[in-house]
Amino acid sequence: LTVRASSYADELVKTAKTVASPGRGILAMDESNATCGKRLDSIGLENTEANRQAYRTLLVSAPGLGNYISGAILFEETLYQSTTDGKKIVDVLLEQGIVPGIKVDKGLVPLAFSNDESWCQGLDGLASRSAAYYQQGARFAKWRTVVSIPNGPSALAVKEAAWGLARYAAISQDNGLVPIVEPEILLDGEHGIDRTFEVAQKVWAEVFFYLAENNVMFEGILLKPSMVTPGADCKERATPEQVASYTLSLLHRRIPPAVPGIMFLSGGQSEVEATLNLNAMNQSPNPWHVSFSYARALQNTCLKTWGGRPENVKAAQDALLQRASANSLAQLGKYTG
Ligand code: 13P
Repeated sequence: LTVRASSYADELVKTAKTVASPGRGILAMDESNATCGKRLDSIGLENTEANRQAYRTLLVSAPGLGNYISGAILFEETLYQSTTDGKKIVDVLLEQGIVPGIKVDKGLVPLAFSNDESWCQGLDGLASRSAAYYQQGARFAKWRTVVSIPNGPSALAVKEAAWGLARYAAISQDNGLVPIVEPEILLDGEHGIDRTFEVAQKVWAEVFFYLAENNVMFEGILLKPSMVTPGADCKERATPEQVASYTLSLLHRRIPPAVPGIMFLSGGQSEVEATLNLNAMNQSPNPWHVSFSYARALQNTCLKTWGGRPENVKAAQDALLQRASANSLAQLGKYTG
């Protein structure tokens, strides 16, 4: 049996390496319209296209952002959008040296006959959408599915999450997009760090089993895992050194060194916590680029500082750049606070 390789194979490897470049990580700014609405509501703004455009213009045009950020994940609306002064958002990113990416999943829905768990939709029509996104300038994709520890996870939910990610990854590579593989293990729960470690080992074993079964080229993917931490409501907290030690053990046991980059999500950690944990993981050399793909941990202060006021745009951009540069140092293991 011979397997046809993606006609984009060389480009995929190149794109993945560019995104996983030293001292840089990903700005996740791909909140769906519903999630973006929640963020805007927190600063008293209405969820209109104009407000979303103003906020995202602020983010992508922060001066020098490309020194710290190698890729930006966009929601479909933003991929086709222009800035408030009429430049294509994609072009602004390219001028900053930032690779545009696109969220391609269609979100979570209940998984029938599970323990109140969910599965991720979006495979129907994915090939043609991916081809169109590539035409529009996207070079990588993201598919986020979730696994809940308090609700199981059931064997069914883990298998479905892993299979969906693998199908998506194959379709993305076939259409020139580097897939970011994101099975988010939610922080929610009272469980300790050992339980998270156990679940994460199971999830990543299945994800790589199905990625291989779907002939996905490991050199042309990126991962977006959760760090291994105690549940959000667990009384016993972990230090950055403990989080780093558990998380790196997980990666060493489950992730082949052919994978170029591991871009962690922040998942509700505070901005500083997310930076300290990343820094702790980069205290000694790793087989992969270990970096960030944060949304909240890059944007929280920026969004608050902006507050929807044009006169605050510069201060908000400075807040974004401060988090981005701190995480850039953390990627190099050189963050000192
Ligand atoms: P957080 O960093 O806020 O968890 O978001 C990252 C992301 O893009 C989740 O898919």
